[in-house]
Amino acid sequence: MISQRLSRRTLVASALALGACSGRAQTPEAATVAVPPLKTAAPFPVGAAISVGGLEDLAYQSVLLANFNQITADWEMKMEQILQPDGTFSFAKADMIAAFAAQHGLRLHGHNLIWYIYKPAPFAALAGDKAAFTKAYANYIQAVAGRYKGQAVGWDVVNEPVAEDGDGYRDCLWRQVLGMDYVAVALTEARRADPNAVLFINDYNLESNPKKRATFLRLIEDLLKRGVPLDGLGTQTHLEVDQQPGAVKTAIRELAATGLKIHVSEFDVTLQRHPLMSRADKLQAEARLAGETAEALSALPAIQRYAFTQWGVRDKDSWLRHPPNAGDGTDAPLLIDDDGLPKAAAAAFVRGVGAKI
Ligand code: XIL
Repeated sequence: MISQRLSRRTLVASALALGACSGRAQTPEAATVAVPPLKTAAPFPVGAAISVGGLEDLAYQSVLLANFNQITADWEMKMEQILQPDGTFSFAKADMIAAFAAQHGLRLHGHNLIWYIYKPAPFAALAGDKAAFTKAYANYIQAVAGRYKGQAVGWDVVNEPVAEDGDGYRDCLWRQVLGMDYVAVALTEARRADPNAVLFINDYNLESNPKKRATFLRLIEDLLKRGVPLDGLGTQTHLEVDQQPGAVKTAIRELAATGLKIHVSEFDVTLQRHPLMSRADKLQAEARLAGETAEALSALPAIQRYAFTQWGVRDKDSWLRHPPNAGDGTDAPLLIDDDGLPKAAAAAFVRGVGAKI
C-alpha cells in the first residue's frame, strides 16, 4: 500500500507541510471565511483527479481524504499507461489507485477506456484487419473494465469524440477502422465487462461552444435511439475566467435534458491568458464559476447528480502547473490552494450547493 511506503523524509516533510497549513492563510488565494470540507457540504460525491506520485506526499493525502470522496486517475488508468508496446497490459499503477480507493472507502471513477489521442502500435498494426482490430478492441475494454468490475463506480468509456470546433467528430485510429461505430462498440463491451458501472461519454468546451455541445448531443441522441448502453455524460468544465455567466448552467441543463447522469468531470478555471484582468479579478471570476457550476449540478434531480470532480487536489497538483500546460507556473485553477487551504472558489462552491457559510 502506498501509505505504508512513505519514507521518513516524506513523513517529516509532510508533517512540516501540514504544520504550515495550520489554519494560517499561506497564499493570497486562501478563503477569508471558514469553509467546511467539500465532501461534507455537497449533496453529491466530490472528486479529484489524483496520481500515484501525488499519493507519496502525506500532505496531499491529508487534503485529499479531508475534502473528497471520489477519485479519478489523472493518467494511470489510461491506455498509454496500461497497454505496453508488445501488446501486453500493465496494471501496476492503476491497481495502486484502485487499492487506495478501496483502502479509504473512496468512489473510483475510471478514466478512460477509448480516447482519440491514443494511437498505440499494437492497434495500429491491426488497422488493416478489421476483424482482428475489433477483437483486440473488445479484449482491451473487457480486460480493463473487467479488472475493476465492482470497484469502479463508472467509466469514461469514450473521451472527447467531438471535433475541436464542434464541426463533426474527431478523426482517430478507432474511427478509421470501425467508423463512428467505435463509440457504440466501446459502450457495448464496457457494459458486458461491468454491467453495474455507470457508462459515460466525456468531452470538454460543452459550455463555451454551443456548436460543439449540439454535435455532442446529436451523438448521444443517436446512441440512445439505437439502444446503445449509455448512462451518463461527462462535461469536463475546463473553464476560462471570461466564461460568460450562465453558460455553465445552460450546458448542464441541456445535457441533463437527455435524462442521463451528469458528471462535472474535470473542473478547473485557468488564470492563464486574459492579461487585462488582475489576478484578484480572475480569482473572483473563478469563484463565480465554481458557484454557478455547483448550483447547476445541485439543481438536477438527485438521480442525475453523478459527481463534481476537480482536475487535481491542490492548485500546485493541477496539470496546468506542469509542462506542457504550465505557462508561467502561477496558475491557481482549483478550489484548494497550494497549501491545501480552501479558496474563495471553495467557499462559492459550498454556497452553490446550498450550505450556509
Ligand atoms: C491530462 C492529465 O492531467 C495530464 O497529466 C496528462 O499529461 C494529459 O492528460 N482532458 C482529459 C484528461 O480528459 O485525461 C486530460 O488529463 C486533461 C484534458
